[in-house]
Amino acid sequence: MPSEKPLRSRRSCLAVPGSNPRFLEKAKGLPADQVFLDLEDAVAPSAKPDARKNVVAALNDGGWGDKLRVVRVNDWTTQWTYRDVIEVVECAGAELDCLMLPKVQSAAQVMALDTLLTQIERTVGLEVGRIGIEAQIENALGLINIEQVAQASPRVEALIFGPADFMASINMKSLVVGEQPPGYDVGDAYHYILMRILMAARAYDLQAIDGPYLQIRDVDGFRRVAGRSAALGLDGKWVLHPGQVDAANEVFSPRQEDYDHAENILDAYEWFTSEQGGMKGSAMVGDGMIDEASRKMALVISGKGRAAGMQRTDRWTPPTE
Ligand code: GLV
Ligand code: MG
Repeated sequence: MPSEKPLRSRRSCLAVPGSNPRFLEKAKGLPADQVFLDLEDAVAPSAKPDARKNVVAALNDGGWGDKLRVVRVNDWTTQWTYRDVIEVVECAGAELDCLMLPKVQSAAQVMALDTLLTQIERTVGLEVGRIGIEAQIENALGLINIEQVAQASPRVEALIFGPADFMASINMKSLVVGEQPPGYDVGDAYHYILMRILMAARAYDLQAIDGPYLQIRDVDGFRRVAGRSAALGLDGKWVLHPGQVDAANEVFSPRQEDYDHAENILDAYEWFTSEQGGMKGSAMVGDGMIDEASRKMALVISGKGRAAGMQRTDRWTPPTE
């Protein structure tokens, strides 16, 4: 089913280490759809207390435009999660769109975050439930429990593949994150994981996001790998470097001609099914036949295009006789 929710664009999700104030400042000017200020794996254990302060200051200083502002907290198996959540949400909750919870293994972990968020929102007078949750799927248990994770809270907005941790968790024989493991030459080693994440996301009306590509100088490699996920239907991908942002935005946006065609199908279908258009269930648009299923496919492309701010360059007009 196409989503009834307005789409929040997450084509490019920029990782910014919370321990680096210079990177935090620079991220404000980059054209990423989402930024996530990291308190987890990009921050050394001893730097976490200062990173929380940097992240709070960066959120409260503003200047993020219409980017989605996300903070990645540490996972529940560490000793840091509760302080990450309390400090960031108490001090900058009004400037925060979502928390990202890494290494999610069960619905209970999402519910625990939901409960803590609700208590903080009530305490400091924030709207209860406005702050969303993005769940990172980074190990075998998380993937097996993904359907429960997806439904664990109405706050869940996105399911994210964490390839580096995932590769470690399943003992994959490779050190190059995002590329195929050497010796696997019969397909895409990540296909099953990505499809499972995508199915859970679509079943529960969430977004599905691909993780990082660590060869940051190889923008062509990024494009190739991102293009595969976009072709499957994922909504976006992490970017680790300014050089990957434009590529992600382009790869996860519809092509202009597809966007125009989708909008034309929607207009044409509305007209043909109306009394004036003859109440037809199927009709021709250009060289192709359209019907109700075409309308659903067009809704997906037009939703992504509209969320990305695309403009029409072509307009369908009803036949004159
Ligand atoms: C991201 O967190 C990853 O583990 O790939
Ligand atoms: Mg990870």
